[in-house]
Amino acid sequence: MAAKPRIFVCVNQRQGGEVSCGGRGSRALADRIEQLAGGEVEVRRRKCLGLCEYGPNMRRDGVGLYVRVTEADLPGIIDGSKPSNLDALGAQGGAPQFDAQVARITGEE
Ligand code: FES
Repeated sequence: MAAKPRIFVCVNQRQGGEVSCGGRGSRALADRIEQLAGGEVEVRRRKCLGLCEYGPNMRRDGVGLYVRVTEADLPGIIDGSKPSNLDALGAQGGAPQFDAQVARITGEE
């Protein structure tokens, strides 16, 4: 049996009004993925994927990074049909650093 695709969701929650994915609803998004996916994916909650100002952020095996995720994005993320929107970071993006951070978190270094 093939391994389930993993979706890494940043659930980091900062105090004091500092920006964080958790502060933007990522914990509810992680729960919603589990509800919608019916066990077809594995949700892994992680603390900080390294691009906090673009959150909520998550990463799906086989596709890549999603930033500024909303609930409307979830079906496409779950089934892998939605392309990564990493380019939404534009010229301000920290993609190389993010990729390194993701590799560290996911053990894919
Ligand atoms: S708080 Fe989510 S990427 Fe840092």
